[in-house]
Amino acid sequence: MGPADLVVRDVEDGFEEAAALLRLVVPTPCAGLTPYDSDRFGRFLAAAHAVPRPHRTLLLRGTFANDDLAGVADWRVLGSSLFLNGVAVAPAWRRNGVGRRLLLDGVALARRLGCGAIELDVASDNAAAAALYERLGFTEVGGSSWVSLGEPNAGEAPAGSSTWRLADWPAFAAHHAAYGFGDLGVRRADATLTVRVLPGGWRLGAVPGPGELAALVRDLSDVLPAPERMFVVDESADVDGTRLAIFRRLRLEVKPSPR
Ligand SMILES: CC(C)(COP(=O)(O)OP(=O)(O)OC[C@H]1O[C@@H](n2cnc3c(N)ncnc32)[C@H](O)[C@@H]1OP(=O)(O)O)[C@@H](O)C(=O)NCCC(=O)NCCS
Repeated sequence: MGPADLVVRDVEDGFEEAAALLRLVVPTPCAGLTPYDSDRFGRFLAAAHAVPRPHRTLLLRGTFANDDLAGVADWRVLGSSLFLNGVAVAPAWRRNGVGRRLLLDGVALARRLGCGAIELDVASDNAAAAALYERLGFTEVGGSSWVSLGEPNAGEAPAGSSTWRLADWPAFAAHHAAYGFGDLGVRRADATLTVRVLPGGWRLGAVPGPGELAALVRDLSDVLPAPERMFVVDESADVDGTRLAIFRRLRLEVKPSPR
């Protein structure tokens, strides 16, 4: 089948298949640490698509060869920019222009939505994806790295350290049960933090002090399985720890179409 047989359109069903393709975007050292790694991410996509199209912030576009899904793009509408959360092409379809079509479709979507730019994060060692983006004119505007905070150890919580309280537990618990991941707000007297609970670990919104971190593991372990790993996304390169992956932020300006 040649490229002329390919059509790009909304994915309206087959969300499990789309989720399986999106799992291919996760760099190996980050496996288990993204919502894509949830075995219920397909249900999340279906729920996001239950919103009427004009009100959606997640737009799932697929390239179809007849009715087969050859590639998928997960776009997020973030106000003035359109963010490419993930794009993946089935291995049998690679180097057939499927990825390029999904990106050009994103440019058209951005124009229709009045977004002035497309942005995305690409792992620094993903040469195939970088080549795709750079050939389309994307340029680097920043970067971040995922930093592992090491082995969580509840036993290191200082004696008498204050307790983390769990905010919005009912909403978090329902989301986590339905989709296999969720954001939990936690608070103590002098700090608030968001913990994204993922299949293989916890992503923290900021780095708490060592005692606070151990107390967090101690307190959340009363209601959740202890995490295999904990990590933060560091944009300023000042967090100590093992770097799991380095991402480059790329951007393409999208000019409005001439009237
Ligand atoms: C990256 C990916 C989406 C590219 O999809 P694709 O459909 O194979 O890409 P296209 O055929 O549209 O390629 C367009 C251009 O990108 C570049 N490119 C794509 N794959 C490449 C590769 N393996 N090596 C070098 N350049 C590559 C080339 O410039 C290519 O143009 P050409 O074929 O005329 O030389 C695909 O390899 C994939 O799904 N990878 C796994 C998931 C992933 O890494 N997603 C990106 C996360 S940021």
